[in-house]
Amino acid sequence: MATKATSAEVSDTTGSQDGVRRRDFLNVAAVSFAGVGAVAAIAPLLVQMAPSGDVLALATTEVDISKIQPGQGIKTTWRKQPIFIRNLMPKEIAEANAVPLSELRDPQTLAERTKPGKQNWLITLGVCTHLGCVPLGIGEGENRGPFGGYFCPCHGSAYDTAARIRQGPAPKNLVVPEYKFTSPTTVQIG
Ligand code: FES
Repeated sequence: MATKATSAEVSDTTGSQDGVRRRDFLNVAAVSFAGVGAVAAIAPLLVQMAPSGDVLALATTEVDISKIQPGQGIKTTWRKQPIFIRNLMPKEIAEANAVPLSELRDPQTLAERTKPGKQNWLITLGVCTHLGCVPLGIGEGENRGPFGGYFCPCHGSAYDTAARIRQGPAPKNLVVPEYKFTSPTTVQIG
């Protein structure tokens, strides 16, 4: 009796192992086909994701700044986002440089936010870092808020003359995008 039971167990075990192996093979085969299918499905997506000529053209923007007088600014766009370009007056530069970094929520000097020797050119996104409204202050006569830079009326964030957050709910300074001067009067953004 004991011997029969043992051989039955062996036989069951062997059959079970074969069954497991067959299932394993079927699973592996199914996964392999799924893998091939996934690659086949991704391939057209990758082709679609390659940037088109239009998108590449939008990657950089050249702006003529020759007409912007000290104290004035312009709004332009880059990658569908507003960009503020401001020619700071000496008084505005002095105000920005007089603020101790310890008073700033997002500590950065004006020099760190501008190019060497060109501290008067303040170039930032025109997008409030709270919830993304476009702040006031770049247009002639617009409310620049209590710190003389930009004011976001959506929830009352105020930025100073270096576009650094000084008051209100916004957590960060206005973002300085990648840019470079391609001539004394031309800026390439992006
Ligand atoms: S979006 Fe500017 S303060 Fe809220």
